[in-house]
Amino acid sequence: MKPLLIQHLSGEPIGRFPVWAMRQAGRYLPNYRAIRAQHSFWEMVTNPELAAAVSMTPLGVLPVDGVIFFSDILTLPYGLGIPIEMREGIGPVATQPIRSAKEFEVFHKYSPDSHTPYVGQALRMVRAKTPEEIALLGFAGAPWTVASYLADGKVGKKFEAIRTWMHRDPADLTQALGYLADATVSYLRSQVQAGAQAVQLFDTWLAEMPKGYFMAYYLPLLNRIFKQMRSESVPLIFYCRHAHHLLDELCALEIDVLSVDELLPLSEVENRTQGKFSLQGNLDPLLLFGESGVVRRQTRALVSEARKLKKPAILNLGHGLLPGTPVENVQAFFEEARALWV
Ligand code: CP3
Repeated sequence: MKPLLIQHLSGEPIGRFPVWAMRQAGRYLPNYRAIRAQHSFWEMVTNPELAAAVSMTPLGVLPVDGVIFFSDILTLPYGLGIPIEMREGIGPVATQPIRSAKEFEVFHKYSPDSHTPYVGQALRMVRAKTPEEIALLGFAGAPWTVASYLADGKVGKKFEAIRTWMHRDPADLTQALGYLADATVSYLRSQVQAGAQAVQLFDTWLAEMPKGYFMAYYLPLLNRIFKQMRSESVPLIFYCRHAHHLLDELCALEIDVLSVDELLPLSEVENRTQGKFSLQGNLDPLLLFGESGVVRRQTRALVSEARKLKKPAILNLGHGLLPGTPVENVQAFFEEARALWV
């Protein structure tokens, strides 16, 4: 049986919208925190049994239509031996930043079996233990967002290192991002071989990129990834956040689904992208800190918005679930999202 989310995307009606949440396996969940208390973040990522168990932590708590495997957008560089620390309250920090194509050449050595074997192993375990109507989702960080961490060390407010590099030598940066793009294709392919039924590329910091660089250099590079992934025959999802200055240009992406942040109504994004994509999104994760009645009302409004769209939508948040989110509000979101008929 094809998972419901995949059926829905290919136009087979499932009677409602499928729903999952970015960062659904995370610190807001007591069962995640219990495992996390015993292990470091990278221990959890690199131990396939643990990674599989954490990926499945939302299953007993939320009626998800997709399970995203537990890992991080920086697992690929971490597996290659680039030092990355996960710091409490900050996120990933590359302790020895790299800032030239020469230094990024290391990504050409990347092989999923030698550098990140635990990812495929975890995916196989999750697929074996998850009901077949639930989709298994693979993911990777997009080259710009991953390189932001690797060049800046810590992603702050200014993205100084990567943006200075872009202005100084755009061809060198593009070559570096190209190495990352090729590694990302092998990484995502290995995930599909291990059972991922759709893949999402996260470009969280795309808002920092000027339109000129995007059009001349970056868009072709993203499409190089998507074109190579086409042969895998799985839906390709692209997430970016607050990059509204590029909304018209995103039309040219060779993807199936655009994952939309919380700031624009889905119908407006559909118009600006000429109805080319299915949309995924986009409840504000901060709304989930409010009253459950508001969560329910806003989720119903989101469902009504999704019903207006030309292509089958996937319900989700506009960004990842935050630590401290009340679990009952996440449950309220899922219940309302599944209650209304398409
Ligand atoms: O449930 C899931 O969505 C699957 C796993 C997943 C994680 N990170 C686990 C994680 C996924 C898909 C990501 C993607 C990711 N990681 C992105 C892109 C999506 C987005 O949210 O924009 C980015 C930018 C990162 C980088 C990152 N990793 C940050 C900024 C942080 C710290 C913030 C936070 O939420 O704690 C991390 C750490 C991280 N990645 C945690 C989790 C569950 C928390 C680590 C902990 O337990 O201490």
